[in-house]
Amino acid sequence: KRFRTMRWLLWRIPLLTIAGTIIYISYGIYEDRHPEPQAEPDPSKKTLVILGTGWGSVSLLKRLDTENYNVVVISPRNYFLFTPLLPSCTTGTIEHRSIMEPIRTILRSKKASAKYYEAEASSIDPDRKVVKIFDNSEVRGETTETEVPYDMLVVGVGAENATFGIPGVREHSCFLKEIGDAQLIRKKIMDCVETAAFKDQAPEEIDRLLHMVVVGGGPTGVEFAGELQDFFEEDIKKLIPDISDRFRVTLVEALPNVLPSFSKQLIEYTESTFKEEKIDIKTKTMVKRVTDKTVEADITGPDGKKERIVLPYGLLVWATGNAVRPVVKDLMSRIPAQKDSRRGLAVNEYLVVQGARDIWAVGDCAVAGYAPTAQVAGQEGTFLARLFNNMAKTEQLEENIRELSSSLNLKPGNAAEISRAIEDQERQLRRIKDIKPFHYSHQGSLAYIGSEKAVADVSWFNGNFATGGSLTFLFWRSAYLSMCFSTRNRLLVINDWLKSKLFGRDVSRE
Ligand code: FAD
Ligand code: NAI
Repeated sequence: KRFRTMRWLLWRIPLLTIAGTIIYISYGIYEDRHPEPQAEPDPSKKTLVILGTGWGSVSLLKRLDTENYNVVVISPRNYFLFTPLLPSCTTGTIEHRSIMEPIRTILRSKKASAKYYEAEASSIDPDRKVVKIFDNSEVRGETTETEVPYDMLVVGVGAENATFGIPGVREHSCFLKEIGDAQLIRKKIMDCVETAAFKDQAPEEIDRLLHMVVVGGGPTGVEFAGELQDFFEEDIKKLIPDISDRFRVTLVEALPNVLPSFSKQLIEYTESTFKEEKIDIKTKTMVKRVTDKTVEADITGPDGKKERIVLPYGLLVWATGNAVRPVVKDLMSRIPAQKDSRRGLAVNEYLVVQGARDIWAVGDCAVAGYAPTAQVAGQEGTFLARLFNNMAKTEQLEENIRELSSSLNLKPGNAAEISRAIEDQERQLRRIKDIKPFHYSHQGSLAYIGSEKAVADVSWFNGNFATGGSLTFLFWRSAYLSMCFSTRNRLLVINDWLKSKLFGRDVSRE
């Protein structure tokens, strides 16, 4: 009998799990497509202006109770971008729209509606409490400027690409931060390949065109180099075999090793995997100048002597980290307490911009003592949502206590009942007022390194657990899949992975 029950369970449990998952996903999709009517914004409430639609701002919006504020979101990008999978878009492993989530969809899912303006903030005046914004949309043909007043402001504008003023970088490199960057890289890879395959090319020109140089051995550069080599090995080599022995990827890094933020063992694993993949790593190599066809760099030898090398390239991708955006620089220059801050807006443990009133900062534009990662920005946004929800509740409770206290005088007959109500409100107030400062909890670092391998430094209870290889690759995929913004994103990403595995990546140049 026990055997029969076991057999019954063995069959039913997977089926029930699959059915449950399908029902759960279908219900999620149905809810998204049929949202509840939204409450209109209440102008008597405080105006909360949120700049940016990246990790920090969207994590805040996701958990913010919009009924408590008049929410206004301002960003030149009308979507959230899931950056961890952006390197996969450069080769077409994933299509770019699969990792974008429209801000309009996100705002529509909130209880009370919020305003969105597709515009860029050019300056913030902390004295007048206004943000100057401009919109230079193509349909208008001219730039329109206006001001948005705020009671509370969250700056989540991220960072721009660092070039350190190195000549030629801005003019000749591709960056990898936005969707447009990934699309441009995808186009340029195929341009280099098709041009190299053109009739009667000089061998040196073929070598130049098929030399892909990546500057910066941080996670962005490493992941992109890995994706690029995969694309070549799995698709281009098969489709255009005549150029297959000429394709080269070089990763240039100023420090003695790549992935400086990962553990030593994973750095070694990445470097040996790259060797197997035939990706050339040039460490202790600092790029000094870029022209339209070459990269000039100083390589430091074991004796400490510097030697100038010149690398001809077809595609150059520049991934040397972050720099402060002009709007943030401008705000910092207006606040005396920010004069010593170099890498962004210095914030306190509640993410309040130091030296400013009613301004908070999250993500890459804030300096809170953590690395500029999506993980940090996401947790900061969630923290602010909790803080703002609590602040609104606090104000409501204080208002209730004020009203109850005044009614105490007016209705002495109900004194005992009213006193109990006041005590109850005060208890609630004490509980929610006791909000702890922001504390970042590091879940680990993951990076894809090509050939269906990944590296992971995972925080495990109180220790660290470092692993790399094919199983880690499966972990990397499942972790990022679960972190995707919506069910729609998840389904699209799975579809893209299957599509590129079954049919190969699409090599047509748009
Ligand atoms: P962002 O996400 O960059 O968002 C900034 C927002 O502000 C954007 O919507 C932008 O349009 C808007 N904006 C810009 N200027 C203005 C303006 N003047 N006015 C109004 N709005 C403005 N981190 C990880 O933890 N794990 C990863 O795997 C990972 N992978 C990455 C892969 C790549 C290729 C890149 C580039 C980064 C990766 N990161 C990763 C880092 C992560 O993406 C950033 O740390 C994160 O995006 C920071 O979030 P943010 O909200 O501060 O800024
Ligand atoms: P980064 O700052 O992590 O790395 C940039 C690298 O470029 C550094 O190692 C630096 O030494 C090198 N460099 C600078 N100037 C150079 C020059 N002139 N010549 C040669 N090398 C030079 O930048 P990255 O990779 O763009 O990452 C930015 C942030 O996003 C980081 O905090 C990173 O952790 C995060 N990120 C995380 C990912 C992940 O967890 N998988 C993926 C991508 C980014």
